[in-house]
Amino acid sequence: MLKPVGNKIQHYFKLHPIMLFLICLSFGTAILIILTVHEGRFRMMPSYGNFNENVVSYPFSNFRNLVMVAGHSVYKSSSCEKVDKEDAWYLESYQKHPGQAATFIKHIQNGVEITANDDKALLLFSGGETRKNAGPRSEAQSYWVAAESKGWFGKQDEVKGRALTEEHARDSFENLLFSVCRFRELTGTYPRNITVVGYDFKEERFVHLHRSAIGFPESRFLYLGTPSTQNARESALKGEALVRSQFQEDPYGCSGILRRKKLGRDPFHRSIPYPNGCPEIEGLFRYCGTAPYPGSLPWAQ
Ligand SMILES: *[C@@H]1O[C@H](CO)[C@@H](O)[C@H](O)[C@H]1NC(C)=O
Repeated sequence: MLKPVGNKIQHYFKLHPIMLFLICLSFGTAILIILTVHEGRFRMMPSYGNFNENVVSYPFSNFRNLVMVAGHSVYKSSSCEKVDKEDAWYLESYQKHPGQAATFIKHIQNGVEITANDDKALLLFSGGETRKNAGPRSEAQSYWVAAESKGWFGKQDEVKGRALTEEHARDSFENLLFSVCRFRELTGTYPRNITVVGYDFKEERFVHLHRSAIGFPESRFLYLGTPSTQNARESALKGEALVRSQFQEDPYGCSGILRRKKLGRDPFHRSIPYPNGCPEIEGLFRYCGTAPYPGSLPWAQ
């Protein structure tokens, strides 16, 4: 059935080679036009990765050091008066201890004070919208609001204007990595010194696992830890040993339980903007090995 038709077409084009040429030409032109339009539309889409390259000045380009306070909870009270009280925070069952809220406030206060004493420091509260029942509020915003309600511990003039947020981290490794990216986004450079504020029992995890995973020099990395509540201590230490062993096996938190935990801490499906804002360390964001990241890093000595 098809063969005679094919033969007829072949015969027709033998008689009219110019017609064949014209058909091929218009076909090619159509494809070219489609591709051009498509690419034009692609180009018009805002690309924040490229955006940075065109910006000459950064809003916080005077700052050299990063002070990062890692979030542990989301503030849920509608009145701002009770940030010291446990019921103002969304707490997991393992966090429900008297005095827990005060430990968050202590971290915030330490972050504010370190920043106040270093005029080259930028303060970042880090943590995403991790708790479904607390609604779409981030840990970072919660800590900022808590600092505000405490009047910045008497350091409002010195610190408030350079206290910002990193609102996507879902675990401690992301607290560190995302804050470094956010610092670059705000200042145009990478931090010279990093100070992390958190619980004392997490020091080992931050200093030896997360810091070395991002290859940041130990001599320029400080950790300021404060104790958890007395009641929480024993279970916190046990839990910490477990998490540490998970990060030991999977330093970049890419698979298994660490990955599942991160998914569980993203109830509102927030897209992560990074590594936009820090193009130099794009490879680090994509890396998933168990050995240290082999690529070059802007802070390597
Ligand atoms: C970083 O920390 C070191 C050691 O505390 C200090 O000597 C240095 O001045 C700091 N760098 C900056 C840029 O503040």
